Amino acid sequence: MKQSPHASGKNLNLRAQVVKTLLAVQNGQSLASVLQQHMSIVSDKDRALYHELVLGCLRQWHALKQLTLPLLAKPLENQVVETCLYVGLYQLLCTRVAAHAAISETVEAAKQLGMESLSGVVNAILRRATRETEQFYDVLEQASNLPSWLSKRLKKDWGENFDALSYELKQVAPLTLRVNTRQVSRDEYLDILEDEGIDAHRCDISEVGIVMDESLHIPSLPGFEAGGFSVQDEHAQLCATLLPNLNGKFVIDACAAPGGKTAHILERYQPKKLIALDQDEKRLKRVSENLERLVLDGKHVEIVTADAVKWSSSELADCIVLDAPCSAIGVIRRHPDIRLLRQSGDIAKTVQLQKQILDNMWQQLKVGGTLLYVTCSILKAENEQQMVDFFAQHADAQEQKIEADWGIEQIHGRQLLPHAGQGDGFYYCRITKIA
Ligand SMILES: C[S@@+](CC[C@H](N)C(=O)[O-])C[C@H]1O[C@@H](n2cnc3c(N)ncnc32)[C@H](O)[C@@H]1O
Repeated sequence: MKQSPHASGKNLNLRAQVVKTLLAVQNGQSLASVLQQHMSIVSDKDRALYHELVLGCLRQWHALKQLTLPLLAKPLENQVVETCLYVGLYQLLCTRVAAHAAISETVEAAKQLGMESLSGVVNAILRRATRETEQFYDVLEQASNLPSWLSKRLKKDWGENFDALSYELKQVAPLTLRVNTRQVSRDEYLDILEDEGIDAHRCDISEVGIVMDESLHIPSLPGFEAGGFSVQDEHAQLCATLLPNLNGKFVIDACAAPGGKTAHILERYQPKKLIALDQDEKRLKRVSENLERLVLDGKHVEIVTADAVKWSSSELADCIVLDAPCSAIGVIRRHPDIRLLRQSGDIAKTVQLQKQILDNMWQQLKVGGTLLYVTCSILKAENEQQMVDFFAQHADAQEQKIEADWGIEQIHGRQLLPHAGQGDGFYYCRITKIA
């Protein structure tokens, strides 16, 4: 059989490559898992636009869908053509791509993807969109851009704050660094950046955080190879600051990969022993790579591949960091594919897994020890409610309140919501074992 000239993807135009990536996400693959392979066939000069179109369409997905429906005489029931329309509308409404280029390239993409017979529909709808942009902008602005099950949950959890929250979740998160203070202080690193003509400023809450004022190629920043900094969200940087002094202590990082929080602990403290545990062997390799790049002492670090639901330690720990697997709704700004991937039914399963890991890790903690429960979720079921249930079932657990001027105090723990120019949605609850 003769193969289509576009079957390998190599001859596809950029819009068709964007559509293929979006189709993969619609079919359940995470963007992180396909991005590298899909990017490899995008030419260097097109990569920035490819990135912007993929991430932008995912960010505006539900609004683009909402805009497209009334424009169709009857439902298309054709994922490829619908995705072409979203990519076309996104370019027309949210980018500076010239309208004629956006339309002709997107129509060509539909043809290249085997939709020759429907390419006229794509052309007609996109042309109409150029005449009706005003009302389209209103829809874009007002759309929560969340799947309806998630809007319902967030409304229930955050009531009158819902509109502000859904607005924040649509924004682009800033690029934030955590300075490796074993090598350089935050102010010294800011001076280095200034000398290089790079604009950046201090984070408000994290004392080691820097927000970059422009988007940059991270490995090209001064000191990257030498381990002068890591990329980490500001609110994730609070984890290490909420722990007791860990010098000489035995610490378990129960869901450690890729090691962002493990590394931060080692930048601040010298534990007697630190077990970095995770069930994902591939992600765990990144823990070692990160510690190596950051030149952190790995002598006392043991990397263990295991299921935290069942694993048991040969010795009880002084401190456990449990950065639990979660819905990751708090980091939607950085992972806009979560909008499409996460399903309502996933939440109860995640809550159950968190509970099992919590119950098991609690048994690995010494009396007097501290467990810090962390998620990057903003759903109460995974956070406040999870902790209400935990305290109801563990008479030997006592909350050690986090007194802070950031976040929102919950029945137990503190919740941070995503904010423009600042950190993502994170939750922290600190627990002491009293018996
Ligand atoms: C939020 S991420 C951890 C991020 C990490 N603490 C950091 O700061 O870089 C959650 C981790 O939990 C791990 N995980 C999920 N289920 C697990 C299980 N049953 N046992 C151990 N690790 C698990 C995942 O592989 C993932 O790496």
